[in-house]
This record gives sequence, C-alpha cells and structure tokens, in this order.
Amino acid sequence: MISEVETAMKIGIIGTGYVGLTTGACFASLGNDVLCVDNNEKKIAMLKKGHMPIYEPGLEELVKTNIKENRLAFTTSISDAVKKCEVVFICVNTPPKENGDADLSAVEVVSQAIAKHMTSYRLIVEKSTVPVETGSRVKQTIKVNARKNVNFDVASNPEFLKEGSAIHDFLNPDRVVIGVESKKAEKILRDLYKPLSAPIVVTDIQSAEIIKHASNSFLASKISFINLIARICDRVGADINKVAEGIGLDHRIGKDFLRPGAGFGGFCFPKDLAAFIRIAEKLGVEMKMLKAVAEANEDQKNYFLKMIEDNLWNLKNKTVGVLGLSFKPDTDDIRFAPAIDIILKLEREGVKVRAFDPQAINNARAVLNGTVYAKDSYDAVKGADALVILTEWNEFRQLDFKRIKKLMKRPLVIDGRNIYSPEKMRELGFQYISIGRPTVQ
Ligand code: UDX
Repeated sequence: MISEVETAMKIGIIGTGYVGLTTGACFASLGNDVLCVDNNEKKIAMLKKGHMPIYEPGLEELVKTNIKENRLAFTTSISDAVKKCEVVFICVNTPPKENGDADLSAVEVVSQAIAKHMTSYRLIVEKSTVPVETGSRVKQTIKVNARKNVNFDVASNPEFLKEGSAIHDFLNPDRVVIGVESKKAEKILRDLYKPLSAPIVVTDIQSAEIIKHASNSFLASKISFINLIARICDRVGADINKVAEGIGLDHRIGKDFLRPGAGFGGFCFPKDLAAFIRIAEKLGVEMKMLKAVAEANEDQKNYFLKMIEDNLWNLKNKTVGVLGLSFKPDTDDIRFAPAIDIILKLEREGVKVRAFDPQAINNARAVLNGTVYAKDSYDAVKGADALVILTEWNEFRQLDFKRIKKLMKRPLVIDGRNIYSPEKMRELGFQYISIGRPTVQ
C-alpha cells in the first residue's frame, strides 16, 4: 500500500542517470518537492521538456506528471539544490576502473560542491553503489570543505532497482536499507520512506554499503551457478529448466535468478562483482568464490559462442540473424551486454551479423559499426544461416516461425535465453539448440 508523505520534504538528487532520475521521479510521486541536478546541460534541457535521456518503462509519464504538478524540476546547479533541499542524494555514476576498482571521482567532486554551498543542516545520502568505507570519505570531504559552524549528516541508502522495472522496484521494495550515524538522519529517512510501508533495515553506513555489494554478488552467483549446472545438463541430455524448478522450490534457495542464459550483463553485476572483489582483497580477504562467479560468466559467453560455431561449422561468410542487443529486456542499456561481446567475436570470425532490438539499436551503433541493423525481427533473419536469440524481449516470443523459416537459408535457431519450447520448434521443422536442454535436430 503506497500513500503520500505526511510532510513533503525538499529533496535534491545529484546525477540524473538510471538511478537518480527514477529516484527523483518516484520521490516526487510520493508528494515530495524534488530538484534533480546534472552537469550535462543537454540532458537537463531534454528533461525540462519532458524528454527522456534513457528508456525505462513508465518513466516518461511519471516525470511529465510530476513536472506538471510542480513537484519535479531540473537544474545544472548543485548550489540551487543544496540551498533549497534539506536532503541531498548522491546518484552519480561510479564506473569501473581498469583494475576493477570503482571510480569514485564524481562522488568526491559532488561531495566537495555540496559542502561548499551548505549554510545550514543537510543530510547527504549516498545512493550510488559505492565500496564500503566510501561514506566515511564523503563525510571527511564535506568536513574539510564545509563552513565550520554548519552541521550535517551522511547516510547510505543503496538502491535495489532492476532496469526495466525500476519504478515498480522503487515503489515496492523488498526492503529499504539505511545506514545512519544519528537519530536525526534516521528519522528523516524513515519519514521519507514511510509511504512505501516496506521493511526498513537501519544500520551503520559501512554495513549498508556492504549489503548492496553482497546482494548483487549473491544474485550474480546464483546466475553463474545455474549456468554451470546447465553445462552438465547439456552433457547428459538433462533439462536445466526442470533442475532449476526442482531446486528453486526449496524456500532456502528460491526460484528467482536461476534462469540459464548466455551470461549476465548490465552496469551493476559485472562492475559490482569486480569492485567487491577489489575491496575484499584490499582488506586482506581473498575472494576466490566471487572471482569464480565472474570467470564463469565470461566462460558462459564463450560457451554460447562455441554452440554457434559447432552448429554452423565454418563461420566465415556465414550470415547470422541476432535478436536482442540490450543486456536484458525492457531497457535500451547495452552496457556489459553479452550480445555485444558475442557479436564482436562473431564478426571477428568473418560472420555477417544482422541484428534487431526493440530499444537498443541506437546505443549499439556506437560500439558495433560492422553490424547490419534490421528494421524488425523478420528483416534480421533474411538469408540467415542461423537465428540467435540473445535478449528475451517478449515480442520475440510471439514470432511467426512459418514466415521465419521461409526467410532463412537454413532453419537453425540457437537460443541464448531458452525462450522457445523445444517440442514446438521440432513441430515447426527447426533445428533448435538451447542452453541446458535436449537439442532438437
Ligand atoms: C541488478 C539487481 O537485480 C538490482 O537489484 C540492482 O539494484 C542492480 O543490478 P539489473 O542489472 O538492472 O539489476 O538487472 P537484473 O534483472 O538483475 O539482470 C542482470 C543480468 O542478469 C541481466 O543480463 C539478466 O539477463 C541476467 N539474468 C538475470 C540471468 O541471466 N538469469 C537470471 O535468472 C536473472
């Protein structure tokens, strides 16, 4: 049950990416007065007109409604946000460095800027995914840069938003985690999240930061685990879907995140795993287990590539129709997407790739410049020696396979997300290869 806040708060959001924009729009929808800041003038200009810089289902409507109701505004000025808002969320990106460490330079720059403009109490909340102990660095940075007599608190409030369902996840969280160092900070965040009537875990800042990295690392571990089991199933002709169902019904395991595929992607799991491994090692804790999770994910992409090669024989000059470029359905995000890696490797072997994705083609053009972009799924399979599924968009589940068969050079489907039924594909006369399930010849 979602209600409105009892007393509307003035909230500043620094960084209007996937997390900041969703967070700002959702806080506004709960009745708060939200000011979103970004240093990208083009992005802010777009947002002021109600145009979205990213694709996230429902976000455009939520932003437009709250702009119209004067609860959501945009600016490039951190000073405006700090002057107006008692609570300021840091939602800037923390991309991976070469060595896997999280790059926290944006967090530092924003912390300095917030400190410089504070003239009265402010609660600064880190929502970006950051390594443990970042909160104490934010606190130190603010202390050094703020005016002597200005009081403040720092808190950690990690996000658990899945791209493609970010608004739903924000408004219906399994739990809200707040890491605080004062009763005042705790009360502010409890009041802010009260309308969601979700369990609130109150802890110290370090524990809150670890909860985020530990959650994502555990979820990624489940995926690599089921992908490894799928390889055993492939060897003996077992059915991974049934294995996943059979273990997932144990409430201690749970059925979610046991879907085998061509590997996990996105701007969270790969980078959070790498960052968590790095932090642990710096703290003297060897993380062999998480290294194995990351390695298994890299291997899974190569495992899938080999499935393609084994069934196409020589790859050079073959044509492959690929459906799906985004790292998961219902997003335009291709960051760390298995599809990008797999297409690059196929093209390096001389394969001609024709690709279609409902949302991600524009983003893919920047990284895949040898690929032919199709106008729809049917255009993608024209003259193809194989159809390869890399993202489980719903629209790919309802294709007209009689039409597809006529368009292809050979009725071969290699499914990296197990979205089709082997029996149905056999009836339609396709050779159907999927992950961890018996092959249909
Ligand atoms: C993830 C976490 O779920 C979220 O809580 C956190 O805040 C951000 O990172 P996200 O990366 O947006 O969210 O998407 P998610 O649905 O978790 O999928 C991540 C990747 O795992 C995708 O590539 C998806 O295809 C893959 N995946 C997911 C599987 O391969 N199998 C599964 O069973 C689930």
